[in-house]
Amino acid sequence: MPADNTLGYYSILGFQREPFSTSPNPEFFYHTREHDLALTNLLIELRLRRGLSVILGDVGTGKTTLSRKLLHELNKRGDIIFHMILDPSFSTQDQFLLSLVKNMDIDLPDNLDVKNCDLLELRDVIETFLIQKTLKENRTIVLIVDEAQKLDLATLESLRILLNFETNEHKLIQLVLLGQLELYSKIVHMSNFLDRISFKFTLNPLDVNETKELINFRINKAGYKGGAKIFLDDAISEVYNYTKGYPRKITMLCHKIMKELVMEDQKIVDNTFVRDVIEKEKQFFSAEKNEGVEVINQV
Ligand SMILES: Nc1ncnc2c1ncn2[C@@H]1O[C@H](COP(=O)(O)OP(=O)(O)O)[C@@H](O)[C@H]1O
Ligand SMILES: [Mg+2]
Repeated sequence: MPADNTLGYYSILGFQREPFSTSPNPEFFYHTREHDLALTNLLIELRLRRGLSVILGDVGTGKTTLSRKLLHELNKRGDIIFHMILDPSFSTQDQFLLSLVKNMDIDLPDNLDVKNCDLLELRDVIETFLIQKTLKENRTIVLIVDEAQKLDLATLESLRILLNFETNEHKLIQLVLLGQLELYSKIVHMSNFLDRISFKFTLNPLDVNETKELINFRINKAGYKGGAKIFLDDAISEVYNYTKGYPRKITMLCHKIMKELVMEDQKIVDNTFVRDVIEKEKQFFSAEKNEGVEVINQV
């Protein structure tokens, strides 16, 4: 079968949508025990306006997907103002605070100009905004930072100062940091930051049962109408052994398996089929390595 046909592999196999896309689509979010615990607790923390939550996890454990799901839930509520930073690499504290002012649609007073207001003025403007929105309009302001391990000390310090804005009952800004484990090694030395963490959670890879549930959930969510079971149990065990339960690796491997099903004109995946796909991948990458091509997306 020509390679072109694999473009719409999902319809050939009986799906209405792509089952194993790696985009962090909240619709494809599966409530594993840990993802669910993290999400439920984050929503409680935000409702109580407790201030700082930190979600840690290795690459590919589902932090970004969790943050999109959180935004999706927050969007259902009318009282939230939120902003999400995807890459927190700011060169100065001013640059960071200015980006907040811009992205949260904060009006600068007439006597201030974006180009030349200083750190204190920027903090004042943000504090006034937080007071206005929280106390007068009863809104909750949420700032979510993904890839938070990239935060430098100056920006962390700015965040700490924002967390100091509070009333007797609650913080005026709610901060959710999601980052790789290095994030914790960074903040562990900043006791005045560490003290402010109200909820901390580490996402671990899935176990074999959750791997199976995640795969089946995504197959159903993609509107599978093919009838027969696609993955036999021994195939799931093989996927688990290879991916060690990392959601990103599971999704990427399953995507390749689906493409291979179409190429081979098959409908069912057993453990030998999974092993063959893995083997082909390894050969492909070692050939690329031999040609000196950088390997970026190895599963
Ligand atoms: N709870 C989940 N339900 C369904 N798919 C998930 C889940 N968590 C992660 N994934 C899948 O794994 C991929 C990688 O997750 P991602 O959120 O990008 O990880 P991280 O941000 O920790 O590196 C996602 O694109 C998604 O396909
Ligand atoms: Mg991510």
